[in-house]
Amino acid sequence: MNPFKYGTIVSGKDFCGRKTLLKQITGYIESSQHIVIMGERRVGKSSVAYESVLKCNGERLLYVDLLGIKSIDALCRRILRAIVILEQKTRWFDKIIKTLSYLRPSISVDPITSMPTVSFDASVEIKANSIPEVLTLIESLGKKRRPVVVFDEFQDILNLEDSHEALALLRSKIQFQSDIPYIFVGSIRHKMDEIFTHHDSPFFKSAIPLTVDPLSYEEFSKFLKKKFTTDQRKIDNEILKKVFKIANDIPGDIQQLCEALWEVTSGKKIISPDKLKNALELIFAREQKSYENYISLLTNIQLKCLMAIAKEGGKSVFSVSFMKSAGFNNPSSVRRAITRLTKLNILFESGNEHRFINPFFRAWLPYKG
Ligand SMILES: Nc1ncnc2c1ncn2[C@@H]1O[C@H](COP(=O)(O)OP(=O)(O)OP(=O)(O)O)[C@@H](O)[C@H]1O
Ligand SMILES: [Mg+2]
Repeated sequence: MNPFKYGTIVSGKDFCGRKTLLKQITGYIESSQHIVIMGERRVGKSSVAYESVLKCNGERLLYVDLLGIKSIDALCRRILRAIVILEQKTRWFDKIIKTLSYLRPSISVDPITSMPTVSFDASVEIKANSIPEVLTLIESLGKKRRPVVVFDEFQDILNLEDSHEALALLRSKIQFQSDIPYIFVGSIRHKMDEIFTHHDSPFFKSAIPLTVDPLSYEEFSKFLKKKFTTDQRKIDNEILKKVFKIANDIPGDIQQLCEALWEVTSGKKIISPDKLKNALELIFAREQKSYENYISLLTNIQLKCLMAIAKEGGKSVFSVSFMKSAGFNNPSSVRRAITRLTKLNILFESGNEHRFINPFFRAWLPYKG
């Protein structure tokens, strides 16, 4: 069985390193501090939040994923759903269901995944004034055994039309819940900054900020090598260093490339450097449709700019040599192209560099594009 995991939260034996960060977070949980965890995409934010709660003896996790929410109604439903799932096997369950009876909650087990699913009456719209009530319900869970609340992809709250009102209502309740640790996790840096560091945001300086960095080569390569040896495959540093480079050191992307390397090699063998090409081709084949879809959204100028960043890197996009290679003679057209590529979630800005969100798309472009 392929031992590499990507795209999901990893924990236990699949979780590598981060001892200091885990200790820091568990310390904050124990002292009921609110924290905010930020970092690049696929770097391991959700996993470190999850693993920290597991590491705290006996803490219960109330995990609420806010990815893609579009309304206050959706926000409240996600929280309520998490509460119902958390309490489904406890003796408080009936009481909670009674409290929520106006929403007609119903629980069922998904026949395919065997996961419990909760649904509420879709015809009732949950309004902003219910936010305090929903948080009071979390507080009442705390009276029995406090949960650690994790709001993942918290930045998506800014997608709501009335996001300021939602944040203000959340904050006004959370600040008095001093026994319940809240962990806010988010990835789009400037959006999380907008929530936690802007003076006029209700959440201004309301949580201790922590950053998740890529795992070190030393620690992560050891962990990955061990996975390769589960059926006596051997990989040397020369190839692994290339894997880290292609994946820009991002753990999720590194594991994705290792997963593909595993698929194109076999047990009891030394993995040869040419297998890296096969592994990339496997990823390209799996992802080609989405790459083509992206390209179909671009104008010729935007595509030229993207190709130039794939080839030359995105550090000095207004330099003469970059513009020459991209075929531009005007920095404002580069700027416009980059703005569009960022809006489409193809590029993101990291420090003073424009980088590909998906490093495999970057690798594919000069190869096939
Ligand atoms: N500590 C770790 N040990 C091993 N692999 C890890 C670790 N952290 C992250 N990964 C790898 O990264 C992948 C993504 O992890 P996770 O979902 O926690 O990241 P994230 O930063 O929350 O991502 P996203 O930006 O998509 O929300 C995992 O599936 C795994 O492949
Ligand atoms: Mg995540």
